[in-house]
Amino acid sequence: MAVLDIIVAPDPRLKITALSVRAVDDDVRKLMDDMLESMHVANGIGLAAPQVGDQRRVIVVDISSPDEKPAPIRMANPALVWVSDEERSHEEGCLSLPEQYAEVERPEAIRVKFLDYSGAEQELNATGMLATCIQHEMDHLDGILFVDHISALKRKMILRRLTKIKKMENA
Ligand code: NI
Repeated sequence: MAVLDIIVAPDPRLKITALSVRAVDDDVRKLMDDMLESMHVANGIGLAAPQVGDQRRVIVVDISSPDEKPAPIRMANPALVWVSDEERSHEEGCLSLPEQYAEVERPEAIRVKFLDYSGAEQELNATGMLATCIQHEMDHLDGILFVDHISALKRKMILRRLTKIKKMENA
């Protein structure tokens, strides 16, 4: 497995629409495993392929806390088949927007279909934190960041801060 570099916003590679995978082969499985390792190293709970510069519709999620047994979920071509009318507001962060947080409203419960690690079609019901995390990662596959769900003013503040940090790091 390999630890991949995670792209920090603003960056055009985070704004792409990712492409469906035709099948979950060894190459896709390697991407899933590398993404999980990279996410764990970065102390994240979710990661989407565009964040590591890959254009495939692949996400990984693990919301278990450090003292719990790991609960990794690997998904290719995730698609929502149902969302609840009830929404839930949660403070979100993102490995591509380090140290930036904002409250985002999303459906409280979802049902998602996807291809699993073996390439089999699966469906999963998720609520609460897991539902939030899966929706956040799925957004990345369509070039959407959590800041795209908040006010333009807050979004500009966050992106300006990240641009400044990038400039300082490159100076
Ligand atoms: Ni994210």
